[in-house]
Amino acid sequence: MKIATIFGTRPEIIKLSTLIPQLDMEFDQVLIHTGQHYSYKMDKIFFDELKLRDCDYTLNIGSGTHAQQTGKMLIELEKVLLLEKPDLVMVQGDTNSTLAGALAASKLHIPVAHVEAGCRSFDKQMPEEINRILVDNISDYLFTPDENSYKNLTCLECFPSDKVYLVGNTSVDACLRTKQLNNQEYLKSYNLEKRRYILFTLHRQENTAVDRLKEIIMALNMISGRIKVLFPAHLRTRKVILENKIEISDNIILTDPLGYNEFMGLLVNSKFIMTDSGGIQEEAAVLNVPCLILRDNTEWMYYVEMGKNMLVGTNYDKIVKVVTDLLENDSKFVEIEKIKISINQGATESIVAILKKELSNIKTI
Ligand code: UD1
Ligand code: UDP
Repeated sequence: MKIATIFGTRPEIIKLSTLIPQLDMEFDQVLIHTGQHYSYKMDKIFFDELKLRDCDYTLNIGSGTHAQQTGKMLIELEKVLLLEKPDLVMVQGDTNSTLAGALAASKLHIPVAHVEAGCRSFDKQMPEEINRILVDNISDYLFTPDENSYKNLTCLECFPSDKVYLVGNTSVDACLRTKQLNNQEYLKSYNLEKRRYILFTLHRQENTAVDRLKEIIMALNMISGRIKVLFPAHLRTRKVILENKIEISDNIILTDPLGYNEFMGLLVNSKFIMTDSGGIQEEAAVLNVPCLILRDNTEWMYYVEMGKNMLVGTNYDKIVKVVTDLLENDSKFVEIEKIKISINQGATESIVAILKKELSNIKTI
């Protein structure tokens, strides 16, 4: 049986990194990279670090508006799928590459497996929310990462329960594997000390609109007067900062995007992280690092409900208040660290086992 795995961005590479080698062992797998992310530090660095094999196809789609990017991907993906004729297409997450992969396949009547299905922020202003809803609705195997996402599909959206699997998230498998490599070596290059700095990332479309970004950075500048801040900037964010000459305080260490091992090493040793990333919210919870979410909603509500992660939003006063309160009350960190959460390990193995069983059924029909 042949599986075509389609992806194109940093988080997809990381979250598929445990699955790709396993699928190679069990199936004839074709790896198709849309080229949505292409700069070394958003793409190839992860293939090198995570020891992933070369892709069979790289489509070099690059950046553009949503329509340009998704449209070009559809055109190129259709050609490859017609040539390769896979029995199943696998996509991950909620990016334009995810949508294009699922749509190109379903129009050719190729079954689609969606890893990280059922996540909902219930905010259609996010391009990712639109992608998730559409991809779930054209997928045949929906691999959900947690109970909330499982219930979103089976209870709220009435998907047939035999299509929906609660398997956990492959990002947890990747994170736990990398955790073993973590040490404090990475801190030295930035002159940082364990628990005496915070990590900050930001890249969402809605947060990189100039006025919103200025407000968030103003809050960060203020916070950096009290504690060191390391800010590995996504290239989208870096571009908006440079083009609009947004001032960054000298107490903030602004860097290029980091490799995964380095990022994990810096996350696990930080006092807390402030981010609007989806994947980092879960990694922070797994590594027991408090996470302040710079958004009004999240598709990863379980960790918020448990009190591990906090929805802070993007308002200057609110951000400064929450951070100041935290920095002045060390007992709050102890309380957050003590909260026990359930972490679903082994999503990678579960997905492979389900596909082996399901695809062998198709073959014998
Ligand atoms: C995309 C996903 C988002 C995901 C994020 C992960 C969509 C709609 N968005 O957002 O869900 O969280 O990836 O990081 O699919 N750029 C570079 N080099 C690169 C990639 C991007 O310079 O390798 C710059 C370009 O200026 C580009 C901008 O970043 O225009 C945005 O890139 P794009 O892929 O459109 O969206 P992301 O913000 O990366
Ligand atoms: N990440 C990384 N280097 C960085 C920032 C993030 O390796 O400088 C990793 C992070 O550990 C996580 C993934 O990139 O696994 C998250 O990607 P991103 O925040 O771009 O996307 P999202 O998860 O929001 O879709």
